[in-house]
Amino acid sequence: MERRDFINALGQASMLITVSGLAAACSKSSGAPAGGNTGGTTTLVSADLSSELIAVGSFKSSHGVILIRTGSTNNVTDFSALSLTCTHMGCTINYDQGTEQFKCPCHGSEFDVNGAVLQGPAAAPLPKFKITIVGNAITVS
Ligand code: FES
Repeated sequence: MERRDFINALGQASMLITVSGLAAACSKSSGAPAGGNTGGTTTLVSADLSSELIAVGSFKSSHGVILIRTGSTNNVTDFSALSLTCTHMGCTINYDQGTEQFKCPCHGSEFDVNGAVLQGPAAAPLPKFKITIVGNAITVS
C-alpha cells in the first residue's frame, strides 16, 4: 500500500468512527419516556394505592411520565400512563385535573386522559406506558 492509499484509508476509517459516534449520541437513552409503550424494566412512576391516587383524576408524575387514576377500581384499566411530551414539537404539556385534559403551552394542542388528540396542531396521540399492579403497588415502566 502506498502512502497516499494508507492516508486515504485512515481518513475513511476515522469518518466511520465519527459517524457511528454521532449516531450513538443521537439514540435514546434507556428508560427515556418519549417513545412510550416501552414495557421496559425501568420504573418511571410508582405509587402505593393504599395511600396515593385515591380519587379519580388524581395523578403522580416523574421522569416525564404522568400516571392518572381514571376509574374507581384498582384494575390497570382504571389508570392511564402517558408521556408529558407533546407530539407536535416536544414541549412539556400541562395536566388540568379539573377538566381531566392536557394542554400544550407552546401551540395549544389538547389531549384527553387516554392521550387522544382533542385539538391540534398535534396529530399523534400521547405515547402510553405499561402499568403493572401487584397488591397495592402500581408501577409504570
Ligand atoms: S409543541 Fe405542543 S402544540 Fe406545538
